[in-house]
Amino acid sequence: MVGLGNKFDEIFRSHCESVDLVSVSPLTMTNSIPGSSGYLDMYPERKVSAFRNPYVMGLTAVASIGGLLFGYDTGVISGALLYIKDDFPAVKHSHFLQETIVSMAGAGAIVGAAVGGWINDAFGRKKATIIADVIFTLGAIVMAAAPDPYVLILGRVLVGLGVGIASVTAPVYIAELSPSEIRGALVSTNVLMITGGQFLSYLTNLAFTQVPGTWRWMLGASGVPAVVQFFLMLLLPESPRWLFMKNRNEEAVAVLANIYDIARLEDEVALLTTQSENDCHKRKDIRYRDVFKSKEIRLAFLAGGGLQAFQQFTGINTVMYYSPTIVQMAGFHSNELAILLSLIVAGLNATGTVLGIYLIDHAGRRKLALFSLGGVIASLIILALSFFNQSSGSGSGLYGWLAVLGLALYIAFFSPGMGPVPWTVNSEVYPEEYRGICGGMSATVNWVSNLIVAQSFLSVADAVGTGPTFLIIAFIAVLAFVFVLVYVPETKGLTFDEVELLWKERAWGINPDAQSLLEN
Ligand code: BGC
Repeated sequence: MVGLGNKFDEIFRSHCESVDLVSVSPLTMTNSIPGSSGYLDMYPERKVSAFRNPYVMGLTAVASIGGLLFGYDTGVISGALLYIKDDFPAVKHSHFLQETIVSMAGAGAIVGAAVGGWINDAFGRKKATIIADVIFTLGAIVMAAAPDPYVLILGRVLVGLGVGIASVTAPVYIAELSPSEIRGALVSTNVLMITGGQFLSYLTNLAFTQVPGTWRWMLGASGVPAVVQFFLMLLLPESPRWLFMKNRNEEAVAVLANIYDIARLEDEVALLTTQSENDCHKRKDIRYRDVFKSKEIRLAFLAGGGLQAFQQFTGINTVMYYSPTIVQMAGFHSNELAILLSLIVAGLNATGTVLGIYLIDHAGRRKLALFSLGGVIASLIILALSFFNQSSGSGSGLYGWLAVLGLALYIAFFSPGMGPVPWTVNSEVYPEEYRGICGGMSATVNWVSNLIVAQSFLSVADAVGTGPTFLIIAFIAVLAFVFVLVYVPETKGLTFDEVELLWKERAWGINPDAQSLLEN
């Protein structure tokens, strides 16, 4: 492998010395870039299939334990809180303490995502994952052993920090090791682990309903996957793209050699080399405070951050966190039925994500998001109508069931599209040197939006009624539809270089010289 590394290092060095930015600009090589439809149409035998590549599958599986932690910990608290109240009378008598215990993980995740972007760029994806695992395990231990509610809150903050860092790192790590033709599916596997983790946490909540004192196990158990990931991650390589960016070319080639056959490997390395050379020039100028000085980055962040905000403001977590309450609002008063229905919602969510994994690299990100939003709008209107009819007094069991149908349709449409698409697009739309920081900022947008929606849904429903609240969310979904149509480009199958080119074209038109003239 070292021999191979040396060979490519030579290519890299000679290329770096003689490179002429215009002649090797991706603008001139669109049809021969690995992963682009042009390249793989010419060499279909070089396509990588995830199922026939245990190395890629293994890396993805380990990295997406981060998704499992994300899902389990956002889901488990609603059930655990019931038992925490039994053990700590102070919590039972204070809504403020209850809300704080629930929401502090989200607050921690906001900070974790923001700092996580920087950690990713500075120390690499592997170290970022390991740091998240350490913080996460510490948080799980603190929660399980908490002698009072305040220590418990500290544990929730720590776990939130870990979740925040993992929410930025796992998609970026997976995207950077993925062949471009299956990148969407692999990044969406992390989203499957989020939805699977939520399902698991609801199952745990149900399983422990009758056992007192179990909240310590429910919360502490989440440290186990973190410990497992910590040790597995020690054995895994750093992201090849990050290594290249740090000029550790031999190590990068050694990783890539496990993913591609020799013919494609040569092309991938040649391409990375070209890009690295372009980056060499750019990197000299990079300061974090300069991030938004580049028009391309502004456009990319608008698309990425906008998708994350719309993912949350189209209401997914009103459904994930409040589905039992919504079911009860619709007239079903049994607790068991409400919990059972919320388990079904979580199961549907995970199943729909599997469909998303298939569709994201076939239909593409844009079509999938638009299709998803179309269905979400229709389902929200059904939900709104069922509540309008209930509150106008003509409601009956029929409208209750209509509300349940609306919920089921909502999740069936949301889960394959607006669940995985924002995470996938954010893992691939930013240039290498900004991928951590911009991915971190957009994940922060996601967590802040999540907090706003989670904190306001019930009060808004109290103030204006449940029907109008769902209509407001439907209106936001219409805005999201228009937003995707106008601002989100199709990135299916494109290499990272092609994505950069795409932003250049959007920012400066098809004449690359315009950019250098204007920027200079
Ligand atoms: C979102 C989470 C949400 C989950 C629902 C994820 O893509 O980011 O906020 O709870 O999907 O399954």
